[in-house]
Amino acid sequence: MRVLETIKQMRSACQATKQEGRRLGFVPTMGALHEGHLSLVRAAKARCDVVAASIFVNPTQFGPNEDFSKYPRSFGTDRELLEKEGVELLFAPSVEEMYPEGAVTFVTVEGLSERLCGKSRPGHFRGVTTIVSNLFHITQSDLAFFGQKDAAQVAIIRRMVLDLNLGVEIVVCPIVREADGLAMSSRNAYLSPQQRRSALVLSRSLAQVKKLFEQGERCTAKLAAAGTQVFAEEPSVRLDYFEIVNPDTLEPVEHISDPALVALAAFVGGTRLIDNIVLTT
Ligand code: PAJ
Repeated sequence: MRVLETIKQMRSACQATKQEGRRLGFVPTMGALHEGHLSLVRAAKARCDVVAASIFVNPTQFGPNEDFSKYPRSFGTDRELLEKEGVELLFAPSVEEMYPEGAVTFVTVEGLSERLCGKSRPGHFRGVTTIVSNLFHITQSDLAFFGQKDAAQVAIIRRMVLDLNLGVEIVVCPIVREADGLAMSSRNAYLSPQQRRSALVLSRSLAQVKKLFEQGERCTAKLAAAGTQVFAEEPSVRLDYFEIVNPDTLEPVEHISDPALVALAAFVGGTRLIDNIVLTT
């Protein structure tokens, strides 16, 4: 595996791959890798000849009071994990490399970026779309792999790729969970053992909604009320939002007739976690 720290090196390594007629898959990450990330790498391996990954904790997608500086960083272990999975190119640039002095250009997907997490994290998705479009330009990969864990991110990136004709195929991979149901996240590392137990309320709430849906309930107000009610069992966890929306537009739906995204975010102590399920009719 080659580790590339400059845009120039990464661009020419990716170009060379494509000139050899090999199909390039790209997995962008912020590191602190877990099985969720590795599932994306495996999916990329299965569909592409060469897999490129990136590790970059992107400052523009963190708010001023968020965890940018304390975000877990474990480059040595991450690098070993990616090498074991057969990644050929690892892009690990510095902040200065990605944001040259005086950078003022952003990519914004309007509307969608203010929904779900965008409501409580203003500017977050603008940071995501800015860095992801930049990474797409550098790698020019044929396919790029994202997790359903960040369902709004997927919808927003798909819209951006469509609107800007970026010509990369977006592949979405299922949420990887711990054995007890907690969705894997780099931020789970912040949880104390007690918080770790409380955090199960997120997946429990979604399971309750799924159960009612499978019993025939289609009214989203009733489904959301039942899902929210589960949070009453864990007063230490503060719900940020609980929404049932169209998975592409992220607009609320009232009655489920097409696939619907049930998405939530909650604070467990100071740690903000997200989870979701898709209900398919
Ligand atoms: P990060 O949180 O590191 O996640 C990188 C990718 O791994 C994302 O596509 C995310 O959805 C996926 N992922 C995380 N946890 C997962 C899980 N439990 N199951 C399946 N996939 C999972 O998302 C980002 O980084 C950044 O916003 C990024 C796209 C890299 C831009 O900075």
